[in-house]
Amino acid sequence: MTTREIEQIIDEIDINGQPPAKEPERQYYYMAKCRQQVEKESEKLGRTLTASVNTFGCQMNARDSEKIVGILEIIGYKIIEEEDADFVIYNTCTVRENANLKVYGHLGYLKKVKKKKPHMRIALCGCMMQEDVVIEKLQKSYNFVNLIFGTHNIFKFAELLYTCMISDRMVLDIWKDTNQIVEDLPSERKYTFKAGVNIMFGCNNFCSYCIVPYVRGRERSRNPKDIIKEIEALVADGVVEVMLLGQNVNSYGKNLENPISFAELLQEIEKIEGLKRIRFMTPHPKDLSMELIEVMKNSKKICNHLHLPVQAGSSRLLKIMNRKYTKEQYLELVDKIKESIPGISLTTDIMLGFPGETEEDFEETLDVVRKVRYDSAYTFIYSKRTGTPAAQMENQIPENVVKERFNRLLKEVQAISAELTKEDEGTVQEVLVEGINEHDAELLTGRLSNNLLVHFRGEKNLVGELAMVRLTECKGFYYMGELI
Ligand code: SAH
Ligand code: SF4
Ligand code: F3S
Repeated sequence: MTTREIEQIIDEIDINGQPPAKEPERQYYYMAKCRQQVEKESEKLGRTLTASVNTFGCQMNARDSEKIVGILEIIGYKIIEEEDADFVIYNTCTVRENANLKVYGHLGYLKKVKKKKPHMRIALCGCMMQEDVVIEKLQKSYNFVNLIFGTHNIFKFAELLYTCMISDRMVLDIWKDTNQIVEDLPSERKYTFKAGVNIMFGCNNFCSYCIVPYVRGRERSRNPKDIIKEIEALVADGVVEVMLLGQNVNSYGKNLENPISFAELLQEIEKIEGLKRIRFMTPHPKDLSMELIEVMKNSKKICNHLHLPVQAGSSRLLKIMNRKYTKEQYLELVDKIKESIPGISLTTDIMLGFPGETEEDFEETLDVVRKVRYDSAYTFIYSKRTGTPAAQMENQIPENVVKERFNRLLKEVQAISAELTKEDEGTVQEVLVEGINEHDAELLTGRLSNNLLVHFRGEKNLVGELAMVRLTECKGFYYMGELI
């Protein structure tokens, strides 16, 4: 459903009637209630109420924030970038401790702002809110926060916000898990020409270091019909590239009433006319199928890029991490992929300093990096997450040892990455023009199928279009180019 269609429904709602029990109708009702309240408060202030949504973490969270912004806009808030709006929302991440600490830092600042601006509302949501210790701390030391909700009940945002608007106490609603997926809620897209689309929620893998399964709940897939319908509507609205989102896209569809594989879903999406590019994140190496490789090979729309997180090279560590593949199996898989799809760009996530990591284990990781030759790699230092099995493990690695390994790894990754980028210098490639260059307004920035960026001269009306560009000069991790 488009935002306009939802707006029309909301216009016709009798807000003095009873709230419907069914979703999403119930939320439409509360959007209408909130809208009236925002109007009242704006009138009192003599200007439109402002809201800012601050997002931490991964693309799932970014997508969730678009849903929050969609609702805020419908109910009449003006969205601004500044952190000290009338309504400030933090959509939090807790995958590593520093993501978590940042939020407390921001709250410290907001406490001061709120003292001067008592009508200000502050809401916290996202993964961090699913942790009991966090909620305890917030209730004890951050009682100026007005609204707290989690990852499972984000669809209820309008209802919770209304409760918050008519109460002067902290409103707190956290669900342990859910199997509910509510469709047809509004959402505001950050870009006009590309969009993230959730295909599944949650994760069942329980890698021993990772908190995501605890804060995002069990795996559940959206109905393929709903996904296709959403993408068709996006395309009708000008989108040419979609990024399909899930913590482990390979297990998409397994638990649906009519099971369907991820590869089959991709084939259905490929048929959508007007859609030009398909990306997805993240496949798990343990169950990446030959079927998927074949579909990628034969597709005209799936981008020439696969993000395949390895985490570590040592089979011993991979076992303790509960990744369910060995170094040899991973390398075999990479060989198959490279054989079937020559020239594919491979990227990865690597974690260093997992409990018990020895110099030999680390050498195995370097060995994988050298053998696979990743186009790029996200490198993380292991962060202990309370409640995960790894947090209980002995042999946590001292920081200085990890840092030293981190630097050695980075050097290796960057050297290979620069070599690979250089190989494409001089070629002509199709890019999606994503915007005007941040540092030089004369230049446009485009994204290659392999996910790298190129800057080139061009008219700004090309933004959102596909264009052919010659990669004239490699600059390490990006290119300078010229429009053909
Ligand atoms: N579902 C994806 C990853 C999601 S989290 C997958 O399985 O690949 C993104 C990345 O954060 C992970 O790939 C991992 O490298 C990193 N990560 C997860 N938990 C972490 C932790 N406790 N400390 C450091 N990095 C972590
Ligand atoms: Fe975390 Fe593993 Fe699930 Fe990825 S697959 S989200 S790393 S538990
Ligand atoms: Fe962070 Fe939650 Fe994503 S913990 S990485 S925002 S799923």
